[in-house]
Amino acid sequence: MADPRPVLVLDFGAQYAQLIARRVRECHVYSEIVPFDSPVADLAARRPAGLILSGGPASVYEPGAPDVDERLFDLGVPVLGICYGQQLMARSLGGRVEPTGAREYGRTGFSITEPGVLLGDLPPEGTVWMSHGDTITAPPPGFVVTGSTDLSPVASMEDPQRGLFGVQFHPEVAHTPRGIDVLKRFLYDACDLLPEWTPANVIERATERIRLQVGDAQILCALSGGVDSSVAALLVHRAVGKNLTCVFVDTGLLRIGEAEQVVATFGEHFQVPLVHARREELFLSKLAGVTDPEQKRRIIGEQFIRVFEEIARTEGREARFLVQGTLYPDVIESGSRTAARIKSHHNVGGLPEDMEFELVEPLRDLFKDEVRKVGEELGLPEEIVRRQPFPGPGLAVRIVGEVTAERLEAVRAADRVVQEEVRRAGLVSDLWQAFAVLLGGVQSVGVMGDGRTYEHPVVVRAVTSEDAMTADWARLPYGVLERISSRIVAEVLGVNRVTYDITSKPPGTIEWE
Ligand code: XMP
Repeated sequence: MADPRPVLVLDFGAQYAQLIARRVRECHVYSEIVPFDSPVADLAARRPAGLILSGGPASVYEPGAPDVDERLFDLGVPVLGICYGQQLMARSLGGRVEPTGAREYGRTGFSITEPGVLLGDLPPEGTVWMSHGDTITAPPPGFVVTGSTDLSPVASMEDPQRGLFGVQFHPEVAHTPRGIDVLKRFLYDACDLLPEWTPANVIERATERIRLQVGDAQILCALSGGVDSSVAALLVHRAVGKNLTCVFVDTGLLRIGEAEQVVATFGEHFQVPLVHARREELFLSKLAGVTDPEQKRRIIGEQFIRVFEEIARTEGREARFLVQGTLYPDVIESGSRTAARIKSHHNVGGLPEDMEFELVEPLRDLFKDEVRKVGEELGLPEEIVRRQPFPGPGLAVRIVGEVTAERLEAVRAADRVVQEEVRRAGLVSDLWQAFAVLLGGVQSVGVMGDGRTYEHPVVVRAVTSEDAMTADWARLPYGVLERISSRIVAEVLGVNRVTYDITSKPPGTIEWE
């Protein structure tokens, strides 16, 4: 299967570039993000089916503002400029962009003056999302103005002969209700693309690529039970069959039923060669007496690698390749951001740094929602495909204080109650995560029956989020909280109090450690 011709999104610094690429993918067209200053020759060499210039925070008149190479417009490839991208297009091709003081921000009424190619599916009057300071006051020669708002006389424009299109509004955001229809017209009509980037095709292409990369060599994969490593493993298994060995390092720090599910799904159902390395005791003994969260992470990370190395030596069949579940957002962001280290997000299941493997990264091109769809297509069970994010160090960072077997059992039982009640209330898909934290170092007084109790509290945490960078505490219905609370106190040994965490991120983090 030939590689699809991409739609390249030139990133002019807006937080929207990733969203644009995701929306294009939702239209089943392959899309990638590239820096705005990529040389035109390099862009042309990618044989793009279309180009999209993203929005950006700058004004086209600011000194040093990201600029566009005008030769881009002569490649014969359809171009869509969005917001700042449209202004660059207008200014480069002889239109007029002015700081009129007519700042538009938020939901704005939009009138179509001429449907043209892009706006054919929209009602004559509608709502769009705007966010700009400068305004295009005259389109470049050859362009037709297709829409306007009260403050933007050129809210959209096009020159279909040359394949050039611009919109001042943001078609990629949910606040522009019919925005996706604008993108579809650009992709399907202007770029003449077909909706071929489907999970089935993604799987086909990944399988071919993996075969090409690894040939007959042996491959290892660290399986964590999370959606990324599961989908990556299945793709590789589909490509190379028994040449793949999956290693599941069972730290004993997973939630109820998860280890069993990994074994049942991969070992039994999909018949993937699987080594189930049960090391609960080892991890517990290494964690004995440790209370510092970073030290817990370090210990777990190190032990994980040790166990993995041992299995690789004894059962790895001299593998040359290692599977990594790297996703497209990791690829975009790697190196580009120097976020302060708030927690060392040790990716248990990640790459032992000094082992000499070549990497197989079958998810490198995919966004998380695409990984889920591929997982569904491959037949992974719903519980894995929809699994909430779970920290690599597992329940060890959901016990504040020392990790002991009793505390693990308590936090696991409390977590089970949270999962069950959230599921029963039909709230799973509304939440980013919902879980229980045991405060191992704290005890409080309670009364149960006739007796005084002096036991640990459990904190229930449920958050909504888009990407875990920020999060809000979920407004769980009181009835749900009530059931969670009474069940935990009744069912979980050693717990006599339940609290609900109402801290957003920032200033809190999602996890407690
Ligand atoms: P925080 O607690 O930093 O978490 O707000 C953000 C997201 O990352 C998950 N998380 C981890 N994932 N290893 C991981 O692979 C870790 O050490 C880790 N710590 C937190 C967390 O569950 C949330 O989704």
